[in-house]
Amino acid sequence: MRVDHSPESMDPGSFYRLLTAVIVPRPIAWVSTLTGDGRTANLAPHSFFTVASTDPPIVQFTSVGRKDSLRNVEETGEFVVNFTPEPLFEQINATATDFPGDEGEFEAVGIEREPSLRVRPPRVAASPVALECTLHATLGLGNSTVVFGRVVHAVVSDDVLVDGRPDIGLLRPLARLGGNEWGTVGEVHDLARIRYRDWASDPARRRPDENPA
Ligand SMILES: Cc1cc2nc3c(=O)[nH]c(=O)nc-3n(C[C@H](O)[C@H](O)[C@H](O)COP(=O)(O)O)c2cc1C
Repeated sequence: MRVDHSPESMDPGSFYRLLTAVIVPRPIAWVSTLTGDGRTANLAPHSFFTVASTDPPIVQFTSVGRKDSLRNVEETGEFVVNFTPEPLFEQINATATDFPGDEGEFEAVGIEREPSLRVRPPRVAASPVALECTLHATLGLGNSTVVFGRVVHAVVSDDVLVDGRPDIGLLRPLARLGGNEWGTVGEVHDLARIRYRDWASDPARRRPDENPA
């Protein structure tokens, strides 16, 4: 048996909770921004986050409603996506507190910052990866705004590199699940994609009607 859910007959909050419970796990962009006057550095997690384009490299996050991060990006045209590793769990969650816009999360939560190379908002010093972005575009959709950022610089700590590549066992990313749930990476499997040439020439994969009698 399946249970049907139609957005028309549900309140938006309930459908939102359903969506966030089933679109899982989600990576978390820990977005740092600066206020328009440049005085306050803001930091907040956003799990509606993914790659929007690979060439040019563009990432996207969604602000549900109008929040300080969105306002700052609109005013300054810049932001940084900081990676969210397991050891920073409590700090990441604390930056989701609804501090007033003039109270920066770096100071309020006690998070060490470091300067970015190509943009003005600072990076989180303890985060192993930072993607420095300039605003490409915003797209208003219903109650939300999707922010697209052109990645103009990426920095990766050598602590998480193996043979020059970021290693999942060292990165230890946190993910957002439904409600207040968080996840960590479980078992990691490595499985190469199959080229059609190999697929088609493998007799074990042929459909029964293709097998010679
Ligand atoms: C793990 C996690 C993921 C979140 N993802 C989002 C998101 O994708 N979009 C959003 O608008 N808020 C999200 N939030 C809530 C914001 O972080 C929260 O509203 C925060 O106060 C916004 O800060 P700001 O006003 O400084 O931008 C998330 C919170 C947590 C803890």
